[in-house]
Amino acid sequence: MGIQIAPAAMADFHQVLADHPRYWGERALRALHLLALVREFGSTCLVARDEGGVRGYVFGFVTPNGTGYVHLIATRDDARGTGLGRRLYAAFAGAAERHGARQLKAITSTENTGSIAFHRSIGFDMEIVDDYNGPGRAMAVFIRALPFDS
Ligand SMILES: CC(C)(COP(=O)(O)OP(=O)(O)OC[C@H]1O[C@@H](n2cnc3c(N)ncnc32)[C@H](O)[C@@H]1OP(=O)(O)O)[C@@H](O)C(=O)NCCC(=O)NCCS
Repeated sequence: MGIQIAPAAMADFHQVLADHPRYWGERALRALHLLALVREFGSTCLVARDEGGVRGYVFGFVTPNGTGYVHLIATRDDARGTGLGRRLYAAFAGAAERHGARQLKAITSTENTGSIAFHRSIGFDMEIVDDYNGPGRAMAVFIRALPFDS
C-alpha cells in the first residue's frame, strides 16, 4: 500500500503524540497538539499513513476570512525528504479550498531553519513579524495564495 492521506482519527492523534520525538526531536510541543482541532476541524486535520503506520500529519483549520491556517505539520524521521511534507500541504490546501480558503498561512520560530527552507521551497512568502508571539517574541510568518498547484 502506498501512502494514503486522510482525516485523523483519535487513534492517530494519540499515535503521533506517542511518537513525538520522531517528529519534533528534542522540542517539547505536545501541548500544541490540541484534540479540539481534530474534533472540531476534522476535515483539515490530516494524517499520512502506509503499512508502517502514521508517517506525517498536518493539523489546521480555515479562518472566517478565508485563510487555511496550518497549526502543525510534521513528517516522521523515516519519511523526511520524500516529498511527503509537500503532499500533506497539497492535501490540506485542497481541503481548505473546499471550505472557502483563498490563501494559506503558517508560522514557525525564527530559529527553525528547516521549516523556513521547506515553506520557501513550496512557494510561501516569508516575513519576520516582531512581537508576533508576545513582546520580544518574533515569528516567521508564511503566506501563499491558493490554489496550491505544486
Ligand atoms: C519541515 C518538514 C515537515 C518537511 O517535511 P519533508 O517531508 O521532509 O518535506 P518534503 O520532502 O516534502 O520537501 C519539500 C521541499 O522542501 C525542502 N525541504 C524540506 N525540508 C528541508 C530542510 N530541512 N532544509 C532544506 N530544504 C528542505 C525539500 O528539499 C523539498 O524541496 P524541493 O521540492 O524543491 O526539492 C519536516 O522536516 C519536519 O517534520 N520537521 C520537523 C517538524 C517541523 O519543524 N515542522 C514545521 C514547523 S510547524
